Amino acid sequence: MPTYIRCIRPQSIDPGLFTNREGEYRHTKEILRSVILARGEEERRLMIHGDSGTGKSILLRKVLSHLKHEIDFISVIVDGKTSMNAEELLRDICENLASELRDEYGENEKAICEISYLDEMSRVNTVTRGWARSRAKEIETTTGAEIGILNFFKLRMGVGSRATGTEELTGTVEIEIDSRFLRQLISHVIETVSADRDKEVVIAIDNLDQIHDKAQIAEFVHEIFKHRKSLLIAVLRSEAITLEFHRSFRDPIVVGDLSGDSLKEILARRLENCPEKEILEQKLPPIADKLRMITGNPLSFLTWVHFLCNNSELNPATMLDDLKSFISNFYGFDPEEVSVISKFFLSRENPFLKRGEIVDQSGVFEGDYDAMIENGILVPDDLYTPQKYRLSPDLAFFKLDL
Ligand SMILES: Nc1ncnc2c1ncn2[C@@H]1O[C@H](COP(=O)(O)OP(=O)(O)OP(=O)(O)O)[C@@H](O)[C@H]1O
Ligand SMILES: [Mg+2]
Repeated sequence: MPTYIRCIRPQSIDPGLFTNREGEYRHTKEILRSVILARGEEERRLMIHGDSGTGKSILLRKVLSHLKHEIDFISVIVDGKTSMNAEELLRDICENLASELRDEYGENEKAICEISYLDEMSRVNTVTRGWARSRAKEIETTTGAEIGILNFFKLRMGVGSRATGTEELTGTVEIEIDSRFLRQLISHVIETVSADRDKEVVIAIDNLDQIHDKAQIAEFVHEIFKHRKSLLIAVLRSEAITLEFHRSFRDPIVVGDLSGDSLKEILARRLENCPEKEILEQKLPPIADKLRMITGNPLSFLTWVHFLCNNSELNPATMLDDLKSFISNFYGFDPEEVSVISKFFLSRENPFLKRGEIVDQSGVFEGDYDAMIENGILVPDDLYTPQKYRLSPDLAFFKLDL
């Protein structure tokens, strides 16, 4: 019977699970501290990149959450994984900013009233001047600190405290809430809040490469770069880095593979509070020890361990065959064919290769090549104009069969 467990959590980025990587953790924290404290300087940007699954997202969360105990700043984290396009990311920034500001302003009546309209604007496609006018009136009846919404209504939407004849006429005209509108709104609020609270607002965009519409990554970066008032952290996979990124983000932090010992510690931390701890501590080591020797990628390692715990008897003798069923489950591909291409790449230390080289030399059917790219068995060197491909780190377990 498989040991059904939930404690391995291959997708979790809970900072409480973070172990090891002391060097990168300290380095990233110190850099971030110095950019946060360098207030007033323009274009403060930090990029964290690395291959898929190396631990960028958990590092970001760990560093931000710890730094918050040491210096005072407001952080807004958004995740490209849950966004379709550039506009949605900007909407997420608005929504998460509203939620952070709710904590910041507590019982402050005017701020809370303004925050609710910031939140509302993050969700609708259009507003009318009439809507803004009535919200403005409502805000004006409250007291306390402002987060910039009333001011934004006046400046961007021509809403005064007294209605003019023209305003009456244009009251029903719809104003589109597009990327430009959202960016101006975010800029305005951040500027007001950081001056009012004397605090830096840090915007962190995690998994930027994973927004659904890849063609929009550049547009998003372009839009967000126009906003110069807060510190921007972009976290993405290396293959998504464009020339514009290179030019805009100096001195990036690169998150690389981990050692076998680090993977052992990562697994041990996950087992600490596991209800099945006792049995896993008996059955897992022979398997986990083999697997951590053939990968430095924590996501692949945890994914394999999770799969084996829930789908096999944790028998080292059948581990390779058990993992082959992982291929049918996750990639919907014939494991034997994937075995051929995997061993082809792994026996050469997994280089990036061109289509011609792969098809001619690997023995993979020409017709399956595109499907392998589509299914993530082969991963590109460049997200936008891929020239070459190599094997996904999740298939490195075929090293056991070389
Ligand atoms: N230092 C670490 N301590 C504990 N767990 C880690 C560490 N590094 C990575 N992990 C785990 O490995 C998995 C992948 O980490 P994460 O999602 O942060 O990688 P990523 O580089 O952001 O991946 P992607 O490229 O897919 O966005 C997660 O389950 C995470 O908890
Ligand atoms: Mg990530």
